[in-house]
Amino acid sequence: MIRCPVNTRLQDYLLSQNIHIRTSCGGRGNCGKCKVRIVSGYCSVNAMDRVWFTEKELEEGYRLGCQVYAKEELVVDILI
Ligand code: FES
Repeated sequence: MIRCPVNTRLQDYLLSQNIHIRTSCGGRGNCGKCKVRIVSGYCSVNAMDRVWFTEKELEEGYRLGCQVYAKEELVVDILI
């Protein structure tokens, strides 16, 4: 798990830590390869998250890593 600092795009933070998630679509939300789970902290759901995850998965914190922007510190489980 990693802690993503506030006001940070998760994908940028991961790259700064030399952590590479699969981003086959270049971070546009089209491939679903960058799945992560938000363990703590609030992360809003966007339209592309709704394409790839069920309502239950969204409630459990699953998000597309390429779409996550930390408005507060987030603890994130990198799934792939
Ligand atoms: S990189 Fe393709 S959906 Fe996130």
